[in-house]
Amino acid sequence: MRQQSLPWQFDEPLSDPEELVRTSFSHDGVSPQSARLALEQRYMSLLEETDKFDRRLVSYQGNKRAMLHSWFKYREGFSAQLVEQLIEDFDLKSGDTILEPFSGSATTLLVARSLGIDATGLEILPVCHLAWEAKSHVYEYDLDELVRLFDMIRTTNPGRASAPFPHIVITESAFPAEAENALMFYTGWFEQLEISSQAKVLLRLALTSILEEISYTRKDGQYLRWDIRSEKVQSRNQQRLANGKKPVKGMNKGHLPDVKQVLLDVLRIYIDDIHKLQKKQYSPSQQRLMQGSTLEILPTLDPDQFAAVITSPPYCNRYDYTRTYALELAYLGAGEEGIRALRFDQLSCTVEHRSKADVLREHYRSLDQEARFEQIWDIVQSNLVFNEINRALAIRWERGEINNQGILPMVEGYFTELTFVFAEIFRTCRSGAQIAFVNDNVRYGGEIIPVDLLSTDLAVQLGFEPVKVYVLPQRKGNSSQQMGRFGREALRKSITIWRKP
Ligand SMILES: C[S@@+](CC[C@H](N)C(=O)[O-])C[C@H]1O[C@@H](n2cnc3c(N)ncnc32)[C@H](O)[C@@H]1O
Repeated sequence: MRQQSLPWQFDEPLSDPEELVRTSFSHDGVSPQSARLALEQRYMSLLEETDKFDRRLVSYQGNKRAMLHSWFKYREGFSAQLVEQLIEDFDLKSGDTILEPFSGSATTLLVARSLGIDATGLEILPVCHLAWEAKSHVYEYDLDELVRLFDMIRTTNPGRASAPFPHIVITESAFPAEAENALMFYTGWFEQLEISSQAKVLLRLALTSILEEISYTRKDGQYLRWDIRSEKVQSRNQQRLANGKKPVKGMNKGHLPDVKQVLLDVLRIYIDDIHKLQKKQYSPSQQRLMQGSTLEILPTLDPDQFAAVITSPPYCNRYDYTRTYALELAYLGAGEEGIRALRFDQLSCTVEHRSKADVLREHYRSLDQEARFEQIWDIVQSNLVFNEINRALAIRWERGEINNQGILPMVEGYFTELTFVFAEIFRTCRSGAQIAFVNDNVRYGGEIIPVDLLSTDLAVQLGFEPVKVYVLPQRKGNSSQQMGRFGREALRKSITIWRKP
């Protein structure tokens, strides 16, 4: 394996690579682990623990109060500082284009914009597109118009809404009636105001961004948690009682804020940020966010164009964005069918996953690229670590140590689909491009899945040179269920860096 000489200075490593490698992957040695052990040895010299990137930087924590980035709370996002650091490390300049295949709240695109670097983003969720649209107008808003609107909202109390909230089954009863009415009153009112299209988009984002706060729900990793006062929990409990079962406890969010007040609070922040940012100088550059699935769009993009990739895919952790963002997606009119389609098209990271092999094969065939499909397919299917993990999970399932059979195809689909993404990144990047992927290692049924090194191994098979695997000083915890059964195991959170030769 060739080691890349790097164009930047590293901070002192916090621990030796030997201390970062794992010596066991299968709790109690139940499943074969030789491929995973060999993988650790093969890439050991790339592992570097550093506090240059800490947990705050690779999570939304770092964006929580950041101007512009905090406009829509996207917990799955990474921080603007992380992107700034990587852009500096990669020595990117005006004229370069960054690819962000899983754009989310568009952190990479916005930082690129502030630094005058071009960027292309891909993202599947409509709510992320709304956030990008509103944020990307930051230098164009008419501040006088926004202040006038703010004042109009401040001096008007909500009347009767003209249309109901476009609920889907899983969002029913998410709001107290009064809050839902106020929300939909503002929605209808803003729609028919004669104002600039930019201001309309900003108001729509403001309303979308307060949905969780004014609702009986709270985003909690894999799920939406529900307040005990919601009709959904109340009627479920009645049913449970009728069936002789104990009622579920549910949480209590306490006092829910007034819709008008939260809306004004959010708008005040937006207007403040716009005011400050419009005073700053920036060099013009171009960013675009393409809507749809990366798996579908990337194969259609021209080759050899990107100078870098800065991204973080959904983690292999069962989190379903279409569930946690159900309120926002429903509000924006996705509907049952639309949400089902998004659920299927998102990268396989949930237990409801269905194989995309046929759809992908058909897509490559329609692009006259069937042979390429087979090539990429063979790379992942023949990877020893991939096969060992699939076998290990099957053993654990048979032993009754995995609580959901959907985990097996999820893991298989996850790495299969990522391999297609890596292959298309390789094709669309130019020689010398540097690639940064932020990801978490995971564990199911006592089997550790080294997502960072397996991804790196697949990338190497596709032609990339592995450069570094930065390991964050803070490890990832385990789910209580895994911990109870298989003990505590600190798992790596990493940033893998590769280079196209
Ligand atoms: C970890 S988040 C990225 C967050 C982003 N770095 C940020 O700062 O906001 C992963 C994103 O990938 C998106 N995604 C999942 N499957 C996708 C697909 N097939 N195509 C495009 N985007 C997808 C999700 O909607 C989510 O926004």
